Amino acid sequence: MAHTRRKLAELDPVWGQIAQEAKAAIADEPLLGGLIHSSVLHHGTFESALAYRISLKLTSNEMPEQILREICDKALASDPEIGLAARADIVAVNDRDPACDRFLLPLLFFKGFQAIQAYRIAHWLWTTGRRDLARFFQMRASEVFGVDIHPAARIGKGIMIDHAHSIVIGETAVVGDNVSMLHSVTLGGTGKEEEDRHPKIGNGVLIGAGAKVLGNIRVGNCSRIAAGSVVLQEVPPCKTVAGVPARIVGEAGCDQPSVKMDQLLGVRGTDDDASD
Ligand SMILES: CC(C)(COP(=O)(O)OP(=O)(O)OC[C@H]1O[C@@H](n2cnc3c(N)ncnc32)[C@H](O)[C@@H]1OP(=O)(O)O)[C@@H](O)C(=O)NCCC(=O)NCCS
Repeated sequence: MAHTRRKLAELDPVWGQIAQEAKAAIADEPLLGGLIHSSVLHHGTFESALAYRISLKLTSNEMPEQILREICDKALASDPEIGLAARADIVAVNDRDPACDRFLLPLLFFKGFQAIQAYRIAHWLWTTGRRDLARFFQMRASEVFGVDIHPAARIGKGIMIDHAHSIVIGETAVVGDNVSMLHSVTLGGTGKEEEDRHPKIGNGVLIGAGAKVLGNIRVGNCSRIAAGSVVLQEVPPCKTVAGVPARIVGEAGCDQPSVKMDQLLGVRGTDDDASD
């Protein structure tokens, strides 16, 4: 068993670390043993654990957990990018959230992480033509996590949504890689545009709590949007904007993906613009 776990840690370091942290967490708090065993140690792969966790969170009287589990299993098996993006999200949360000190925590307890993974399944359903089922996932994620992401939105990997109350991301929004957002962020329309009407957020952007980014505008790579801003115009790369309506107030540096993330995931840098 120890040999298998060692092998696992070499092949899939994120999952290997989660499994190790799970055992330590049970030793530390035996009352969490049932939850951690069924959520982590019972599973042979990260994908299996993720499918279990998402389906358990989204089930209701309207939809049995088993059906949701089958959908999640199928999505994760058909598109390996979903599992890779989820690993990048875990590493991102652990790197950027000072309240997170283990890979285990987002999988078990952080609704921002769980909501993004529910969106990833919904997006797979949407792109494979099962749009009503995708909308069911959107509704349940909104009810359970307070995060309302249209399944057609396109979102990169290495995403952190901290606290995750009241997040709205519209149908034609695009979010690049390594983006962080705090609670109460809206990526919405102004109501004055039709069709392609939502923001295009570049790579490495930080969006502060309560910020509203409205309209089909580009937010350049590595820019920073201050808490409470209302952004109505394009933001150039590497600028800080603040205010209502938002104006440029300074320069912004770009955090490159950490060495740890590079090692664990082999993710590329943040130099291409995800906005399109
Ligand atoms: C208010 C609104 C309808 C635009 O109204 P409008 O009369 O067409 O306004 P304009 O775009 O012509 O802008 C007029 C001025 O108001 C400012 N303005 C527009 N919307 C604003 C807002 N929400 N907050 C603060 N200022 C705003 C503009 O910057 C502009 O200022 P300026 O003349 O100094 O450049 C729109 O911006 C809005 O807020 N819609 C609601 C969007 C929303 O809630 N979306 C969420 C979807 S999930």
